[in-house]
Amino acid sequence: MDASTRRDVTVVDHPMVQHKLTIMRDKATSTASFRRLLREIAALLTYEATRDLELTTTTIETPLATMEAPTLAGKKLVFASILRAGNGLLEGMLDLVPAARVAHVGLYRDPETLQPVEYYFKAPEDLHERVVIAVDPMLATANSAIAAIRGLKERGAKDIRFVCLLAAPEGVERFRAAHPDVPVVTAAIDSHLNEHGYILPGLGDAGDRMYGTK
Ligand code: URA
Repeated sequence: MDASTRRDVTVVDHPMVQHKLTIMRDKATSTASFRRLLREIAALLTYEATRDLELTTTTIETPLATMEAPTLAGKKLVFASILRAGNGLLEGMLDLVPAARVAHVGLYRDPETLQPVEYYFKAPEDLHERVVIAVDPMLATANSAIAAIRGLKERGAKDIRFVCLLAAPEGVERFRAAHPDVPVVTAAIDSHLNEHGYILPGLGDAGDRMYGTK
């Protein structure tokens, strides 16, 4: 991404995104609807996160003429899902970019230090040559997102973006302080975190809502 043109934090205020997000926030929304809406919003957020991808041209024959037509150039994409809730966004992202590669990053919280510890990491080997879009629906304390991006950088990723559905102002601030080179794309920045680290007004636990667990 060209640093002179990219925005550090993008709130996607498109009416379709905002409408779908409102239905997702409603506690009466079923698990099936929540999952479908998350998939749909993910494609729209990815559309924004990929807005500045470089284009080149290729010569093609339409049924009527030869033309120089735009086509994606440059680095290929990797979607990096932060487990488990990141997987809910992954499907919609792959709807938009079916050829993207996928990485998975698993983290748990150490009960004593309360810090995230990586228990799983699997990604394509050529991360340094790819645009990496890391995803997790909720940027709350930002602990997992910060650790996941650190893990991706340690494995060579250089051009990284972060996509989430909802963010807390505290999470955005911490994330940007830790990774100022990683732009954030989100559907909304809510009011604040509560004492349990949940985003308010938020939508509850994104993983529980998409998988029907509790
Ligand atoms: N994770 C969630 O799923 N929801 C929140 O509000 C915060 C973190």
